[in-house]
Amino acid sequence: MDYFNYKGDVLYAEDVPVSKLAEKYGTPLYVYSQRTFVEHFCKIKNAFSDMETLICYSVKANSNLSVLNELKKEGAGFDIVSGGELYRALKVGADPKKIVYAGVGKTAEEINYALEAGILMFNVESVNELKALDKAGKKMNKIVGVALRINPDVDAHTHPHITTGTKETKFGIDMGHAYQLYRSAHTYKNLHIKGLHVHIGSQITSTYPYIETVKKVSQFIKDLQKEGVELEYLNLGGGFGIIYNEEKPSTADTFALAIKPYVTGLKLKLILEPGRFIIGNAAILVTKVIYNKKGNKKDFLITDAGMNDLIRPAMYEAYHKIIPVEVSNKKEDKELGYYDVVGPICESSDFLGKDRHLPLVKEGDLLAVRGAGAYGFSMSSNYNSRKRMAEVMVKGKDDFLIRERETFEDLVDKEKIIK
Ligand code: LLP
Repeated sequence: MDYFNYKGDVLYAEDVPVSKLAEKYGTPLYVYSQRTFVEHFCKIKNAFSDMETLICYSVKANSNLSVLNELKKEGAGFDIVSGGELYRALKVGADPKKIVYAGVGKTAEEINYALEAGILMFNVESVNELKALDKAGKKMNKIVGVALRINPDVDAHTHPHITTGTKETKFGIDMGHAYQLYRSAHTYKNLHIKGLHVHIGSQITSTYPYIETVKKVSQFIKDLQKEGVELEYLNLGGGFGIIYNEEKPSTADTFALAIKPYVTGLKLKLILEPGRFIIGNAAILVTKVIYNKKGNKKDFLITDAGMNDLIRPAMYEAYHKIIPVEVSNKKEDKELGYYDVVGPICESSDFLGKDRHLPLVKEGDLLAVRGAGAYGFSMSSNYNSRKRMAEVMVKGKDDFLIRERETFEDLVDKEKIIK
């Protein structure tokens, strides 16, 4: 469910025609629907409302300050993976006690920053990180809140690049080792090991990988409890999948129904770290067709957005629906063309969609790439010295510029010419 719908022949973002936004702000343009992501956040919140649950929105999915701020207002905490993401969360006034920090490579500088900020806990991915945290705590005379991220060796049945819970990946600590670490927690004088974290991957549409995970994890926690190791938090990470094309993902309620029976008895506070589920379908990327090019074997629509703006198709062969911003009424325009929609970047992998049936598209027409809210802008780059695009948020009938389009000066701002 989202708020990008046609009214007649015109695509709207909530109550604003998308073509008006393109006219006002130019293209390419990321357009967000605030109502969509707030509703998605509330779906998860409500599904787990009968348990004490902290929902830490995963900042990496989309870190625009206005997105973070709107979610903060709804009570969200934040899942961060860098000093930069912490900076963003603090910038919108997030409560540090609702911030959890994951990632395999936290630097000493980042650890100190997060300790000073007083975050809820670090999701620790290795023994050496545990030692580094203990040392940092000692230096700053602080007790550091910690959860061990375990690797449950569960296959999330998603794209290999976004699978994180199997033994082959760099993430987490294997369960046997983690068990020993929990038992020897007292040897780390400046740590309070109070949680268990697990994140098995992303764009998971079925409940089964979660069930397999929570079964393993709950037994693990029960075994620890028998030995007198008491935890306070169980963090199940993110990963709830969304509809890009024909997927039939479980709903927030179904995920909750599947997970809760295994965790309620543990008497722990639950933490979730959804990113894509909240923001994924809450944005479209609006792009203009620059050229219509007839190739030997294929027809191409060359757009003003490329892989530097949305890298998911190039990187994971991800499918994003592409639809016209205005549907023509003329009979001859209703015929379908068959296109590869490609960007202007000098790489063969620069495409937004391949083999797409679209109404005959003319140069200058606008297209909307759906499902562009998560890992869209946040993974964008300046490759080919292209300015990163503007971002706009729509709330009902109002639109707000939430990031200006970059300028050429921005591109070279930090560079120096050696004299
Ligand atoms: N928690 C942790 C520890 C994570 O590593 C991630 C995502 C999340 C939460 C949020 O996962 P989500 O709910 O959004 O699935 N760039 C890829 C996705 C990479 C996900 C990385 N970790 C893509 O575009 O599909």
